[in-house]
Amino acid sequence: MNKIAIAVHGGASENYSFLREHQQEFALGLAKATEMGYEVLDKGGSALDAVEEAVGILEDNPLFNAGRGSALNSRGEVEMDASLMDGKDLQAGAVSMVRTVKNPIRLARLVMEKTRHVFLSGYGALELAKKYGMEIEAESYFITPYQYEVYQKLNKIETMEEIQKKKMKGTVGAVALDLQGNLAAGTSTGGISNCLPGRIGDSCVIGAGCYANNATCAVSGTGEGEYLIRGVVGHTISMMMEFDMPLQEACDYVIHERNKKLNGEMGIIALNQMGDFGISFNTEIMKRAWKSSSREIQIKLFD
Ligand code: GLY
Repeated sequence: MNKIAIAVHGGASENYSFLREHQQEFALGLAKATEMGYEVLDKGGSALDAVEEAVGILEDNPLFNAGRGSALNSRGEVEMDASLMDGKDLQAGAVSMVRTVKNPIRLARLVMEKTRHVFLSGYGALELAKKYGMEIEAESYFITPYQYEVYQKLNKIETMEEIQKKKMKGTVGAVALDLQGNLAAGTSTGGISNCLPGRIGDSCVIGAGCYANNATCAVSGTGEGEYLIRGVVGHTISMMMEFDMPLQEACDYVIHERNKKLNGEMGIIALNQMGDFGISFNTEIMKRAWKSSSREIQIKLFD
């Protein structure tokens, strides 16, 4: 039997008190996303379906910074980014500055499958969501007490210059391998707390926070989006593999060596067609879980 595999992440960041206080709930959230994504694969579903399912579950979970539970920008609003990519044919879909759409990752898939474009933002993305009857929620649905508290704390003390320097972040993502040997990646985020309105991170940038190619690997990134974009992190890991570097080595090289000059805080999960996982981060922690047909589920919140 061919191997199936899935990995998910719930963000790379500093070790923060809210995580320590809610360890069990975070672990359960990662486990649910992994198991539900794995079930899709086990029933013969595609890697793309599994990634969409796993990321959608994390978007619905208010603990994680994506969908419900998204970080608030400096105006106290939620603007979300998401993307996914199919390693089989390099098809991709992405959305940015999305408001009120319950699951931006599903909207990214709509962009990929129902339009002739790769990337839609703002009102155009919302119009597409409405045209296809996607679930829309009130702005208040997305705002959790925790994220509101973080926003209030940061917003009170900052000048515009300080806002640009702030590093509160988080993202969710998944990579999967299906029975047909296809890889896929998906990433979704509410961005960085108290960021400038209209700021767009790496999670919706194909080649930065999301990339998949059956010939190499699937990658989902997390961390400081500005650095993942400038380091073209997802695509660079894939390129290192094209030049015959093994998966874990390519992940470590890009996160720890190549990133040295930029010095961005980031993490990635990756997967190849053999079902090998690559995990690398230079932050204090990265919340993550993974499972394959040859390995029971593993969940890690910290080191
Ligand atoms: N990595 C998420 C962001 O920077 O928006």
